Amino acid sequence: MKIKVKINGEWKEWEIDPSDYLLDVLRREGYLSVKRGCDTGTCGTCTVLVDGFPALSCSILAATMDGHEITTAEGIADEMEDYMKALAAEGADQCGFCSPGLMVMVYALKKEIENGKVEKNEEAVKRYLIGNLCRCSGYLGQQRAIFKFLGVK
Ligand code: FES
Ligand code: FES
Repeated sequence: MKIKVKINGEWKEWEIDPSDYLLDVLRREGYLSVKRGCDTGTCGTCTVLVDGFPALSCSILAATMDGHEITTAEGIADEMEDYMKALAAEGADQCGFCSPGLMVMVYALKKEIENGKVEKNEEAVKRYLIGNLCRCSGYLGQQRAIFKFLGVK
């Protein structure tokens, strides 16, 4: 079957199998920032935005994406340059496997804060990002960078 999606601002038509998961299709189509971690909907490394909201691509059938807008880390890299600089300044980058999914979540969180849907404080930020697991950093460097980027005091 064919689906049409708007990915990172550009409409594309993809030939997929009805049983394909979005994660597999995205990686096949070259969006390699989208990582396969647990493949069971628990680690957050496969996070993308669907119509502006975070979604776990390992748990969504690609067939349901027809006509929808998908954003991956590749599509927001320019806008998130200051975030990446903050991560580097805090020495928070280690293997980097969790970084693209976390960046997508931080991008979504920034919008939610701007829209008044999430409070701008440490507890609210930690709660929003609780589904993004990291096997190496211990989280503290990442948290410092995220607080700095979001202006959380
Ligand atoms: S790979 Fe999707 S949540 Fe872990
Ligand atoms: S930096 Fe290695 S998984 Fe997060």
